[in-house]
Amino acid sequence: MTTAEIQLNDPQTLYRRWEDSQWSPFSIDLSEDASQWSQMTGDDRDLILYVLSSLMVAEERITTKFSGLVGAYGSEEEASFLSTQQVDEARHMQFYARFQDEVIAAPDVIAAHVARAREGVSDAFRHIFDEELVQAHRQLVLEPESLNAKVRFITLYHLILEGTLGLTTFEFTTGYLSGEGLLPGFVEGYSKIHHDETRHIGYGVWFLRETVRSEPQMGEVVRQTLRDLLPSVAASLAPPDTGTDRDFAAIGASSDDIREFALGGLTRRLDIIGVPLNTL
Ligand SMILES: [Fe+2]
Ligand SMILES: [Fe+2]
Repeated sequence: MTTAEIQLNDPQTLYRRWEDSQWSPFSIDLSEDASQWSQMTGDDRDLILYVLSSLMVAEERITTKFSGLVGAYGSEEEASFLSTQQVDEARHMQFYARFQDEVIAAPDVIAAHVARAREGVSDAFRHIFDEELVQAHRQLVLEPESLNAKVRFITLYHLILEGTLGLTTFEFTTGYLSGEGLLPGFVEGYSKIHHDETRHIGYGVWFLRETVRSEPQMGEVVRQTLRDLLPSVAASLAPPDTGTDRDFAAIGASSDDIREFALGGLTRRLDIIGVPLNTL
């Protein structure tokens, strides 16, 4: 990402881009996915199920723990963009729920899919989504005028959850599935979700860069949030603990590849924001 590209990521530009990027989670064909899923066996199936569970739980949290930021807008343009992000996140949750309905399980309400998926996620993942995110969101709802609360929330949500965990999971999961010709409907939907996520991350980087530029002391809030969260992020990018020595080899990646990708992206974004990772 160049500085010129980032310059374009102001909320009004992102809002206009959203208007041209509509898609429906109900128009993607999942029939091939359903027949493939019933045939899949072995380690890659387990690992894909783990990723699907994590995505189902993550999007539920991310959808229902966002409205505080919409209420903390700084301009009408920002309020417009943030409303679109709220809709996008609900759309993503709907896509993963439909995938559960038609491929992984039987039709049910979203809460039932989330409850089942929760059994498969790690403790580090739970800490990030059920404790840290919930707490940062609650603080923002209590104090919508607090720049401190807004910077902490956006660092956690846009920079860490979407920009680091989200992009890394997308890269390795779709890389594997596309290469193997597996779950084409899932890959199509997840790719549309990814396209939405690049707008969201663009907003987060724009907001943090502008804020740190005008209020340099906010850089310390970004740093503190990263210090608090990075150990759990690293743990949740590690292979699921299954009691075996299996790692990501089942999807053709090593833990080193994954860590390198995650850290590389975070480093680039922090440089743009003006809070380099080595100043932590
Ligand atoms: Fe999302
Ligand atoms: Fe998002």
